[in-house]
Amino acid sequence: MTRNVPLTQERFAEAARLCNPEIPYTSDISVLSEKTVIGSKTIENRLACQAMEGCDGNADGSPGELTERRYLRFSRGGAGIIWFEATACTENGRANPRQLYLNEKNLDSFKSLVNKIRETALRENGYVPLIIMQNTHSGRYSKPNGKAEPLIAYNNPLLEASGPIDSSRIVSDSDIDTIGEAMVKNSALAEKAGFDGVDIKCCHRYLNSELLSAYNREGRYGGCFENRTRLLRETVRNSIQTVSSDFIVSTRLNIYDGLPYPYGFGVSEKSGTEPDFDEPERLVDELHTLGMRIINITMGNPYFNPHVNRPFSMGPYQADEHPVEGVARVLNGISEVHAAVPEIKVIASALSWLGVVAPNVAAAYISAGGFDYAGFGRMIFAYPDFARDILTKGSLDSKKICIACSKCTEIMRTPGGTPGCAIRDPLYTEIYRNIKNNRK
Ligand SMILES: Cc1cc2nc3c(=O)[nH]c(=O)nc-3n(C[C@H](O)[C@H](O)[C@H](O)COP(=O)(O)O)c2cc1C
Repeated sequence: MTRNVPLTQERFAEAARLCNPEIPYTSDISVLSEKTVIGSKTIENRLACQAMEGCDGNADGSPGELTERRYLRFSRGGAGIIWFEATACTENGRANPRQLYLNEKNLDSFKSLVNKIRETALRENGYVPLIIMQNTHSGRYSKPNGKAEPLIAYNNPLLEASGPIDSSRIVSDSDIDTIGEAMVKNSALAEKAGFDGVDIKCCHRYLNSELLSAYNREGRYGGCFENRTRLLRETVRNSIQTVSSDFIVSTRLNIYDGLPYPYGFGVSEKSGTEPDFDEPERLVDELHTLGMRIINITMGNPYFNPHVNRPFSMGPYQADEHPVEGVARVLNGISEVHAAVPEIKVIASALSWLGVVAPNVAAAYISAGGFDYAGFGRMIFAYPDFARDILTKGSLDSKKICIACSKCTEIMRTPGGTPGCAIRDPLYTEIYRNIKNNRK
């Protein structure tokens, strides 16, 4: 099977024919320019910058120079939504020593960045994006001092292939209560910093997401559906009660982990890694009942099965499926969950691999009610003004698109690495080159 990068419509069509996924396509992309409303906020178009961590904050958790550079590029780009990257709620929940960490002491630095994002967008595009901050605790993947300091929901042999993590690292129920309180406090700080909303992160197998599959954990956070979803539901409810009524409380949710039962959420209990969206649909419905109006949906574990999370043309291994199948899994899974709870607006993920046909595919899904906003991850590192080109030129430039080569992830996985696009952004070409040279 070919692993061609989809630079042209013909290649996309060929990939679709080879894999026979049910991915729709339309040449009418006008729906992407539509305005939508959530509560008191207007969203100017259907294009979103997904949460993309740059691991380039300062030691105190405040945004650094590269952080600012990234967000000003995104804000000039004209997307209707900027989903601001993973920002830790506690120091020990940081995924790396340079992960952003919002607290009272550095609040002003976040305020200043949010203001600059709005000012820049208004000046360049005549409107401001909706800005949602991702509120996280990295759980199993915590590395606040550069070495692993995991806090796990339960031992998972699939994720601990080299030997079980010591049971002292299993987070206690009272520690989870405390983390929930820290997340609610972080939601309130996000409002003070000027964000439009907060995302109680529940994806990619960080703490909240891992709890969703804690089927065999004892106590208040394990076993039944109610217990496994407790941290997310209570943090969402308490955040809604703490912030003002027009501040958005959302979540970025894994509806499918791609790990077999009893180690994955959104999978069939009977057969391997086959998706089963009954529980994700029930959870989204309950979140809607709590007052959630917009949700960002994703899949997979970027450490364990990155081809599920971010389908790639080149990556750390040869996946046993064509990347277009990975894209289809995410987009059709999102559509299925959205059909079950159509009242909640949905942002989709995993479109970058589609390259120049991404706007056409996104527009087809949106027109059919599959989702409401097209979220782009790796694409925004490569092509920060992707939204402007889609909206004003009606297409993406094949010389600017993300080629799904996984170099941004490779930089991120290098200790001290600050990810960006090594192909399209000369600053990061240099960063990537230095990493390669240092390895020699
Ligand atoms: C370098 C890098 C950083 C990322 N940072 C985050 C993050 O902070 N929060 C998050 O939820 N997802 C993060 N992701 C995942 C992306 O948001 C997105 O889900 C994934 O790349 C698939 O979308 P795409 O095909 O548009 O790239 C990151 C991905 C990459 C490659």
